Amino acid sequence: MESKNEILNVSNTVKWIGALDYDIVSFDVVMSTDYGTTYNSFFIDARKKAIIETTKEKFKEQYLGKIKSLTDPVDIEYIIMNHTEPDHSGNLKHLLELAPKATVVGSGSAIRYLQDMIGAEFKFRQVKNGDELDLGNMTLKFIGAPNLHWPDTMYTYLIEEKILFSCDSFGSHYCNEKMFDDLVGSFDDAFNYYFDVILRPYSKFMLKAIDKIRLLDINIICPGHGPILRSNWQKYVDISEAKAKKYLETVEAEDTRVLIAYVSAYGYTREMALNVEEGVKSAGKIKTNMIDLETASLGELEEQLIRCSSLLVGSPTINQNTLLPVYRLFSAINPIRDKGKTAATFGSYGWSGEAVEIIEANLKVLKLKLFDSHALFKFYPHKAKSDELKKFGKSFGQFALESVKE
Ligand SMILES: Cc1cc2nc3c(=O)[nH]c(=O)nc-3n(C[C@H](O)[C@H](O)[C@H](O)COP(=O)(O)O)c2cc1C
Ligand SMILES: [Fe+2]
Ligand SMILES: [Fe+2]
Repeated sequence: MESKNEILNVSNTVKWIGALDYDIVSFDVVMSTDYGTTYNSFFIDARKKAIIETTKEKFKEQYLGKIKSLTDPVDIEYIIMNHTEPDHSGNLKHLLELAPKATVVGSGSAIRYLQDMIGAEFKFRQVKNGDELDLGNMTLKFIGAPNLHWPDTMYTYLIEEKILFSCDSFGSHYCNEKMFDDLVGSFDDAFNYYFDVILRPYSKFMLKAIDKIRLLDINIICPGHGPILRSNWQKYVDISEAKAKKYLETVEAEDTRVLIAYVSAYGYTREMALNVEEGVKSAGKIKTNMIDLETASLGELEEQLIRCSSLLVGSPTINQNTLLPVYRLFSAINPIRDKGKTAATFGSYGWSGEAVEIIEANLKVLKLKLFDSHALFKFYPHKAKSDELKKFGKSFGQFALESVKE
């Protein structure tokens, strides 16, 4: 769909100059975007002209055209980058060609990332929580909000107009040319989904950032994607806070929860899983959950991973490898969230049995804490083997309990 090349007034001095992307089907490869998205960028028409964020490179011509229609780009003094992921920084290098004297403003890590992305010299200023930037007749204040969802993230607050620019926080992949929360209809679905996929793993940081912005007098929140929150930003901050708290309560639950995730072509590895589960349970106060990776949805997998404190992965060896559903499990593991969770592997094989070691190597680089043994048996786990599997499960269960206490 053709997007309208419009500029919208957010306030007297702030204009939305972003891009509408109706066509995008997946974002960062990991999430589906049923409602499209927008890349929000803002022009602050203060005495010293400033731009907040840029847009994805795909929208270069349209984006630079909008800026040129508002000002001579050489007059831009500051470009504020709250976050440097290419959906926001993609057009920075092109904008800098038109505005070579502009100073790029961002957190220390934002500036370092941009130096690696841009590949040319540019003027920059690193800012920290509480720093202010004088725009002549207006003032920007920077609020440290790291790890939402990259280490570089921060918020920018336009003091005189009480506008908070929050980049990915409080955003949604939701494309509607009307752009304001009071005009676009309900986008709660998109908002919730965005939070769950992008921000939820960083809930601890979300709550810290929300505590900081609660101290501000805010009229409007301008996120980096989706509707501008001018009529009811409180609702979306409250939703984010409630979801973050709920998530933390879930992951901090006291129980030791072992997730047994397996794949099995003929049921042999599944039989092993059942024996291992029995052993795990006999180790003490442990809850177990079993999941067949072949049929589990990515959403289900993620829910289970969030909840577990320990992970057992079972796979047969097929063509000297493990199987695609196990690689899908790897993609759902988030080393920031899941780091240090205890893990072990098991599997049935016929003659070479590589799968368990391949899985172990992956779990290790994904920062899980590996148990020092695995259970690997040829074909069907008959009686003697099943006793051994129970023993293996029990010692893994003890390891999981010990690790939770640490
Ligand atoms: C297509 C195919 C390829 C296989 N390749 C290997 C292999 O490379 N190395 C090995 O040890 N076993 C191999 N096997 C044997 C399986 O690992 C063995 O049958 C195992 O018991 C299957 O367990 P499951 O019922 O849990 O899938 C292969 C089996 C199939 C069907
Ligand atoms: Fe991002
Ligand atoms: Fe983004």
